[in-house]
Amino acid sequence: MTASAATRKKVESLRSEIRHHNYLYHVLDDPEVADAGYDRLVRELTALEKENPELVTPDSPTQRVGAEPIKAFGTVQHQIPMLSLDNAFSEEELKDFHRRVTDRLDIEDDAGELAYSAEPKLDGVAVSLLYEAGYLVRGATRGDGTTGEDITHNVRTIASVPLKLFGDGYPSTLEVRGEVFMPRAGFEKFNELARQKDEKTFVNPRNAAAGSLRQLDPRLTAERPLDMYVYSVGQVEGGSLPDRHSAILDQLREWGFKICPERKVVKGIRGCLDFYEDLGKRRDLLSYDIDGVVYKVDRLDYQQQLGFISRAPRWAIAHKFPAQEETTVVRDIEFQVGRTGAVTPVARLEPVFVGGVTVSNATLHNMDELYRKDVRVGDTVIVRRAGDVIPEVVRVIKKKGARRKPKVKTPTKCPVCKSKVMRIDDEAVARCTGGLYCEAQRSEALKHFVSRRALDIEGLGSKLIEQLVAMGRIKTPADIFRLEKDELVEMERMGEKSADNLLKSIETSKQTTLSRFLYGLGIREVGEATANALASHYGKLEAIMSASEEDLQTVPDVGPVVASRMQAFFSESHNLDVIRSLKGSGVRWTESEPALIAKDGPLTGKTFVLTGTLAGMTRDEAKDRIQAAGGKVTGTVSKKTDFVVYGDNPGSKLTKAQKLAVETIDQTGLEKLLGDH
Ligand code: IVH
Repeated sequence: MTASAATRKKVESLRSEIRHHNYLYHVLDDPEVADAGYDRLVRELTALEKENPELVTPDSPTQRVGAEPIKAFGTVQHQIPMLSLDNAFSEEELKDFHRRVTDRLDIEDDAGELAYSAEPKLDGVAVSLLYEAGYLVRGATRGDGTTGEDITHNVRTIASVPLKLFGDGYPSTLEVRGEVFMPRAGFEKFNELARQKDEKTFVNPRNAAAGSLRQLDPRLTAERPLDMYVYSVGQVEGGSLPDRHSAILDQLREWGFKICPERKVVKGIRGCLDFYEDLGKRRDLLSYDIDGVVYKVDRLDYQQQLGFISRAPRWAIAHKFPAQEETTVVRDIEFQVGRTGAVTPVARLEPVFVGGVTVSNATLHNMDELYRKDVRVGDTVIVRRAGDVIPEVVRVIKKKGARRKPKVKTPTKCPVCKSKVMRIDDEAVARCTGGLYCEAQRSEALKHFVSRRALDIEGLGSKLIEQLVAMGRIKTPADIFRLEKDELVEMERMGEKSADNLLKSIETSKQTTLSRFLYGLGIREVGEATANALASHYGKLEAIMSASEEDLQTVPDVGPVVASRMQAFFSESHNLDVIRSLKGSGVRWTESEPALIAKDGPLTGKTFVLTGTLAGMTRDEAKDRIQAAGGKVTGTVSKKTDFVVYGDNPGSKLTKAQKLAVETIDQTGLEKLLGDH
């Protein structure tokens, strides 16, 4: 059965509509329909093609991905060799190039008027696309410039590669050349997925693009987020093209090719350098990798006059950006302590020029990263520095059979203050427990100590703290209370009056509350609410300091993490020194009696956990009442818990109770136990 003329017409019109939307979306980046509308068109076409298989043609938008892998790559002879480019690494070398061009053309260009087409040098894979009568018939790699590999099955899967050209007037044989690349975002996503599936990751977007084109199975290539910018033409027969390079690119865009938007016709060396500088600044903001700028003499008659030398044209040059990746050797791996105590491994490197500066340190982020990349002292590594970001070790270059040093271990003691280093549960970083004592953490800790919700010392701002710490004038919060007027007036931007005011607010801050004091100590995970809960539960600092981890967890909101942080903090003698000396300086608060648990009540011996919001009763009130009845309230559900009391929006504690088969009761249940009914 053959399809009716009406069906044929419908199929053709659907195809051209889909091509149009494809072009708007993938080439111009400016879609005019929503995805759903586009999908509907594709579904309709697919259905019609299924009913009328004789209507299926290779240029149909449904036919991008072949069904079967190919057996092997065929070879392709490039009718016109695919050349490479000479490089310029400095302004001098670029000027030399310009001089050679003008000399050979025998023109004066003192005014700097010679037009160049300036374009990014894309960091991907050079590919040739051949169109016959407007249909894509072949895609090929550059290979050695003369012989490449046939990758038609794979380039067809790239959405921005037209299977059929738009409009008319194109030469009957048209070969275009350009760069296939993987945009950075797609690359990151691809690697992330590969990591999750424990599959091989790619080192950089260029390798990812090359690897993706080297697939025998186009279905695999189709899954890779590839894109292509066209930047020149090769073979052209049965038609003609404009007489300037920039105009050719404009024309190619009309026929459906994607052209890099970062291009400009510039004049003379000045124009080239301005373009280079501007693009260099924006390099890291682009969505794809580039490694320089290509300048091409724009006039084709000039290009013809200039011709080629060995494998590169005389009319073009690549002006390279400083490499963002370099190879060097790891001299040592040390540990740095950040402001919050995070202990991070840092590689000390054989100095290397990368990303425009000499780099001798690179971050390894954290221990997980360090082990994942398996970086060791003595290794040869690739370092990357892009833009202003901190240089990082990308990976190790493994040498077969080479003996390597053992893996480094997380230090057990802080390299700055020798306090214990701890890594808690699922946190990626290990931390110094030195807190206030540790010089690395001092400024941040002090800022926290004086902040509004802690000791609330007005007039002691961040800048001033940093200055005082840098001078070695304050080391612990206790030193704040020893500041004197004559040294304060010496400080930058500090007059007599502000010094007086500061001293006054320091004095006032001495009268504080236990919970502010506790919060101000800056124990990790002990926020305002927790400090409040601890203060009201224990009433006295000594009681908190001597409480066991288990006992601490009887305070609402205190779980095992907080409890262990507190224990770690109070077991460091430096922290005890700081507390003692603060008290010695006159910092004080009113102590209160701890909330009492009745010795002999109806709930004696029973342990409760509260979760969610109770109606008409705060959690503290509920706790008081349970305690008054002899019960104990703790923060974590365990097998020892007798009841979990849940209100509205209960948290994970309820689920845990159910898992451990602990009895759960609502507010009415609690009131019953308390004897309200
Ligand atoms: S023009 C005869 N333009 O650079 C001129 N090449 O080193 C040939 N490349 O293999 C190329 N961006 O893969 C040209 N805007 C651009 C380019 C570019 C990247 C690559 C291309 C070529 C290599 C030459």
